[in-house]
Amino acid sequence: MESTGTNDDIYGNFEMEEVDKNRATQRRNKLPPKCGTVCVGLLLALLVVGNIGQLVYHAVSSTDREYYNNQREELQRNYEAKLGNLSDEVQTTHLIREAKARELTQQVRDIVTMIAKGKNCDTGWKKYGLSCYFVSTAKKNWAASREDCKAQGADLVVINSEEEKDFVTGLVNGPEDWIGLTDSAQEGSWMWVDGTPVTTTYWSGGQPNSSKGDQDCGEMWKDSKQKKGLWNDEDCSLNNTWICEKKLTFE
Ligand SMILES: *[C@@H]1O[C@H](CO)[C@@H](O)[C@H](O)[C@H]1NC(C)=O
Ligand SMILES: *[C@@H]1O[C@H](CO)[C@@H](O)[C@H](O)[C@H]1NC(C)=O
Ligand SMILES: *[C@@H]1O[C@H](CO)[C@@H](O)[C@H](O)[C@H]1NC(C)=O
Repeated sequence: MESTGTNDDIYGNFEMEEVDKNRATQRRNKLPPKCGTVCVGLLLALLVVGNIGQLVYHAVSSTDREYYNNQREELQRNYEAKLGNLSDEVQTTHLIREAKARELTQQVRDIVTMIAKGKNCDTGWKKYGLSCYFVSTAKKNWAASREDCKAQGADLVVINSEEEKDFVTGLVNGPEDWIGLTDSAQEGSWMWVDGTPVTTTYWSGGQPNSSKGDQDCGEMWKDSKQKKGLWNDEDCSLNNTWICEKKLTFE
């Protein structure tokens, strides 16, 4: 095609393409004529060899891949099954051990109870569960009350259950009895005299209130019907009756 020679943009672009095509044709014509068939032949040979190689490679590697994938999947399945079985076994063993431990604990408890039933408390002490309890008629401050309990191989009472609280309530001499409860080590952190923290509490409404500054010792109220057996924090220097508890021993 010939250039129209106009200044129009479209025709301008068209002209440029024509020029490029002509240049490419010129370059092709410059190649040495002998290379023509030889080079094409070589190229074809290379392509054929390359394709066959690729085909062989694909055939082999896809078989291998399939084989190894199957192997891997089988190992994985086996491993998961074994792991499942193992965790089942561990769980079963654990459950059996727990059940045996519970059974043993219960047997020990039964034996101890049986022996304790045959044991009596000293005169003046009342028996409940595996303990003996003493209620004073004298009045002393908390520390002196505790000393008195200790001198008798006991300590101020530690209440471990609602049943024990109810039993001890029946003993209260009143109007206020010291029990083994104190927060003198750390204000607000009530502990039993045996070192155990207080978990279940029976504080009377609004107690402990540490009224007039410092009330670090626990007492049980006899008081009115609603407050009977409930706890209050009191000034440790006050003189009260108190309750001791002594665990039964089996020697
Ligand atoms: C898992 O346990 C079952 C039943 O006891 C058994 O038949 C199977 O062979 C075990 N599998 C493995 C992988 O150990
Ligand atoms: C705190 O408790 C005591 C009993 O220990 C009681 O007499 C007093 O009224 C209480 N104080 C307040 C502010 O509730
Ligand atoms: C407690 O009793 C002792 C001995 O009888 C006495 O010396 C002390 O003053 C009393 N304490 C209080 C706070 O009443």
